[in-house]
Formats: sequence, C-alpha cells, structure tokens
Amino acid sequence: MKATALAHSNTALIKYWGKKDEQLIIPMNNSISITIDALSTITTVEFSPQYTEDVFILNDNKATGRAYQRVVKHLDLLRQEAQRKLKAKVVSKNNFPTAMGLASSASGFAALTVAACAALGLKKTPQELSMLSRQGSGSSCRSIFGGFVEWVKDDGTGKSYAIQLANEDWWDLRDIVLILEEKEQRQYSTREAMRLSMKTSPFFAARLAATESNLDKMRRAIKKRDFTLLGTVAEHDCLLMHAVALTSNPWQLFWTSATVKMMKLVPQLREKGLPCYFTIDSGANMHLLTLPEHQESILAELEKHHFIKKIVCARLAGGATIISDHLF
Ligand code: PMV
Repeated sequence: MKATALAHSNTALIKYWGKKDEQLIIPMNNSISITIDALSTITTVEFSPQYTEDVFILNDNKATGRAYQRVVKHLDLLRQEAQRKLKAKVVSKNNFPTAMGLASSASGFAALTVAACAALGLKKTPQELSMLSRQGSGSSCRSIFGGFVEWVKDDGTGKSYAIQLANEDWWDLRDIVLILEEKEQRQYSTREAMRLSMKTSPFFAARLAATESNLDKMRRAIKKRDFTLLGTVAEHDCLLMHAVALTSNPWQLFWTSATVKMMKLVPQLREKGLPCYFTIDSGANMHLLTLPEHQESILAELEKHHFIKKIVCARLAGGATIISDHLF
C-alpha cells in the first residue's frame, strides 16, 4: 500500500478568489490556469498497520502544526473514501526551496491525492482526483491536469472540478517566475484573505460580474493562441483580484516595493517591443508571461535590475502522475 506521485504547480490566469462553500472549497467563480514545471512536488505515501500515527515529512523535516493538520485532514478524507483506517507515512519533496515565497500547496495536494489514492487502491478518474484534491487545497484541483486548465465552479449537478482546455503541447507559453521576496510576508492566510474580501470589499461583486466575460476572452485567447489577448486579460484579472483585496476591511496589500517597481517595468518592456504581461498571486512575487522567441531578450533586460532576487524560467508541464521511484 505504497505509491509515489509527481505533480506540478500552476499559475492562475483568471484567479480563484472567494469561496461559495468554505468546507467543501467550492469557488465563487471559474478560474483558468497553466500548469508549470517551475515548482513540482514528489510525494510518497504508505499506509501500514506498523504506523500508530500519521507522519508527514516535508523537505526532510517532520511537519507539525497547521501543515501537518492539513495533511492529516486530507488523509482522513481519502481513508473515508476507501473505508480504511490505516495510518500513513507521507514523505514529500519540492524541487524548489519552500522559503522562496512561492506557494507549494497546489503541487503538494495534487501529488498527495494521486499518491494516496493509488496506495489505497482507489481507482479514480482524473475528474474524481480533481474533486478530492480540491478539498485539500482549492487551486490544487487544477494541478491534476497539464497545460491549460479551467476549474469549473459547478458543472450543473453541484460538482466542482478542473477540466483540461488544451494540453501542454498546444502552445509553448513561458512563465518567467520572478522571486522578489524570499520570505513570505503575508499577514493573513489565503483562506482568511478571501473570506475578508468576500465579506467586506464593495468591489467583490464588481469583480465577479467582470469575470464571466474575462473567462470567455481567456478561453478564446487559448483557442486562437492570441498572446496579446491572453496577457491583457490575465493582467487585468490580476489587478481586479488585488483591487478586491486592497478594498477589504482590514485591507490587504500583498505587494512590496519590489513588486510595484516590477509592475511599472512591464509596460516599459512592452514599449521596447518585448511582449510580456504579469500576474501576481497572494504574495509579492510575480509571474511574467511571454513567448519563447522573446524570453532571452527579456531575461537580458531583467538582469539589469538588481532588486530581482531570483529568476526561474518555467514552461508548461503535464498533469499529476504516478512514478515508480519512491522517496523511502
Ligand atoms: O488554493 P489556494 O488556497 O492556494 O488559493 C489560491 C489563490 C490564488 O493563487 C491567489 C489564485 C488562484 O486561482 O490560484
């Protein structure tokens, strides 16, 4: 009863921001992402009567507190599915230091779901895996699939899961991940920030109303491989999400001065003839979207700016898969 899975993180082009159901993690709006190879997680799960409690080891350290509790809660959900009571050992490794300020919950929960289901002998379709993963961490439901992915808030029967819009070979988009702050400086968890935004921002409803048309444009941009449309809409939706967070009470600003400097630089790069657009999640770091033919020139420009701490060049990746090399 042991299995190992590999999953990649994803970058939202149309963001998920706000939950309709906090327990089940049902979002208020559909979201669209690209699955990227920049941050991946490998997780081995073993269920055995020899374990008297669940153990979770992340990047060689035994996890405690909130990180541990979230994994145990997710294991409980999967054990319930399989009608098993066995405790598990979970060993997980990110290919990227966790302290980089890049969220790892999407790749982490997708890998955990796929590995634990296989270890428990649960035969699940990708759609079912996505639904299970969603309950561990919302955005992780998109990492079950590779390429371009849409998380459907409700399929008409009350089910919420991700679907693939196009696979990773459809379009060679590039995501230049700019590490602007190496430590997470968040005051609130994403969960808490979304809750505050929904309850208190007068802009929450306005953003939600704008989302349908942005989703349509994004689907069209992907279908037609229209980079200008994809980038313009992604940047706009990112700013809508941050405007909602900023106007909640208490207000939430995820950016630092480095983020703002970088935001101002992006239109200047475009004016120089280098097509690129930004998107930012609930943190200070930035994803710069571009096309392969412009990547080198953009990197040469970025090198001039010493406030950028690290640069990671990402391409599109495939979905979560079972692999044969166990971590223990
Ligand atoms: O799934 P969570 O709780 O990590 O929330 C993700 C929220 C954003 O990254 C800001 C947007 C998104 O769709 O990924």
